[in-house]
Amino acid sequence: MVSTRRSKRDTAETRETDITVYGATGFVARHVLEYLLATAAMEEVHTSLKITLGGRNQVKLDDIQTYLQTEFLDKAATETSKPQCCTVTLDTWIADSADAEALLAMAKRTRVVLNCAGPFQLYGTGVVKACVEGNTHYVDITGEAPWAGQMRGTLGSNNRTNTNRIISFCGFDSVPSDLAIYVAVRALKKQANGKNDNTDIQISNGTTWHAAFGLLNGGTLHTALDMPMDMSHCIYESDGKFRKVPFLVCDPLELAHPTLVKHHVSYKGWKNRLAWREWTNQLLSVDTQFRCGVSVPFLMAPVNTKVVNATAAALNYSSPNTDGKNDGFTYGERFLPLGFRATSAIGIFSFIAALFFQLILGLVFLVFKLPSLGKHLAIKLMPPGTGSPDLINEQGYGTVYAEVLTSPKKGEVQKKGTCMLQMTGDPGNLITAQCVGESALTLLWTATEDLPERSEDGFGTPMELMGSELVMRLLQSKVRNVEIKASAKDAGYQWLFYVHALFDMALATAVIKFIWNKFHTSP
Ligand SMILES: NC(=O)c1ccc[n+]([C@@H]2O[C@H](COP(=O)([O-])OP(=O)(O)OC[C@H]3O[C@@H](n4cnc5c(N)ncnc54)[C@H](OP(=O)(O)O)[C@@H]3O)[C@@H](O)[C@H]2O)c1
Repeated sequence: MVSTRRSKRDTAETRETDITVYGATGFVARHVLEYLLATAAMEEVHTSLKITLGGRNQVKLDDIQTYLQTEFLDKAATETSKPQCCTVTLDTWIADSADAEALLAMAKRTRVVLNCAGPFQLYGTGVVKACVEGNTHYVDITGEAPWAGQMRGTLGSNNRTNTNRIISFCGFDSVPSDLAIYVAVRALKKQANGKNDNTDIQISNGTTWHAAFGLLNGGTLHTALDMPMDMSHCIYESDGKFRKVPFLVCDPLELAHPTLVKHHVSYKGWKNRLAWREWTNQLLSVDTQFRCGVSVPFLMAPVNTKVVNATAAALNYSSPNTDGKNDGFTYGERFLPLGFRATSAIGIFSFIAALFFQLILGLVFLVFKLPSLGKHLAIKLMPPGTGSPDLINEQGYGTVYAEVLTSPKKGEVQKKGTCMLQMTGDPGNLITAQCVGESALTLLWTATEDLPERSEDGFGTPMELMGSELVMRLLQSKVRNVEIKASAKDAGYQWLFYVHALFDMALATAVIKFIWNKFHTSP
């Protein structure tokens, strides 16, 4: 059950509003607001929810307020036979992202700020700063790891004496990855120690495989194009020497608590191992789990990996030690272009689809990255504020399968924890709206004593700072169905892999021989 107690902090301190959705006029924000209202309509414990629509344009804010009031609140009041338990009220707040005073006033009057105004490196810094100064909970839907790392690095020390939580990556990037690995780890720990999952077994390896369907939003495309391409910090150390293993986008421990990782005795080796895993993750791979099916690197892996690495460091899935007996947890993330069933059905032949998918993706990336033409095309095809039509939104889905493996001591059997997570709706819109909406409600409606321990600076990842309370809220959602299945068992030998590999190789040889005989005519 999700917690229904109110935190002492919340009851002692009265604020004018519960959740401020900042960037409320954006494409994703509309879905977030609709999700919050639909959830409130079915709420059975809490009796009120005050939502503020925050942004820079009063006319646009009034339009969205009128739409939500007439399409949701007024309709619900007349249509529902059963009276609603939770009364929702809406108001608006004007604050440009450059107006520090207005942002601080906004943060101080609200319990949770839910930020949808991106690109975050352009519009997000002032909002996080205001939440630190106002001691206000903060969640967002950014996928910009370097920016989020910079926020923790520059603002974390000012947030130590506060009681708030600052949590980025609460959308499709990166809740499904973070959650699936977290649940798989818990399943292993529970199995190892009966009901209690506090046992300290060491988890050496985690991987997630994703299958998803949906479209890119204009806002997301422009955020990706506006990302700085200065990669020099990925290649050189601060003293100008080449890095032993270059970074992919940023330091693999960028989002972890700085003092937790930087003062670790094995920091350099740890970082290199994580960076190396990210590079090897960029190749195509043959996966035993799907009858030798072929997977490609997941597009969002360079971001999600940093989030999972930070959770792993904070929750101690396994930190490296100096005696060389434990190298620590590493994580990789894969994508199955044909989905789970079709990939398993055709096994090694999914290689063709994987290759094709990678080529198309590479081509699209190159076209959009062409100087000036790419940006021009993006503005023409997908301007900011646009996104998937409702039909695609509803047909979309996101499925994640996670596997984690223990690093067994001598004489112990290796164990495997798994988690299958299924969510419905376009990942960038409906799944993102559900994940960030439930994150905000978790911080709003969960008593502090029921949440995981706060990090020393209040910054952290979704699973580190909301953990099982967010998992339970998602599972109990009445708006969009979320399915989670977890298991823990002996890892066993991978003999099935060799059987499948031999079988598929024999089949491939037979097909090639058949085609050769049919079409090859000797001179
Ligand atoms: N994590 C995920 O899985 C995920 C999924 C989808 C999107 N995203 C990210 O979320 C962000 C929003 O996406 P979207 O599709 O909703 O984009 P969008 O429709 O373009 O919305 C952008 C929002 O930012 C606001 N904004 C722009 N400049 C501002 C300023 N100076 N001050 C205050 N607000 C300002 C806009 O307000 P106006 O209406 O006044 O212009 C609008 O409300 C993007 O960065 C995208 O990458 C992440």
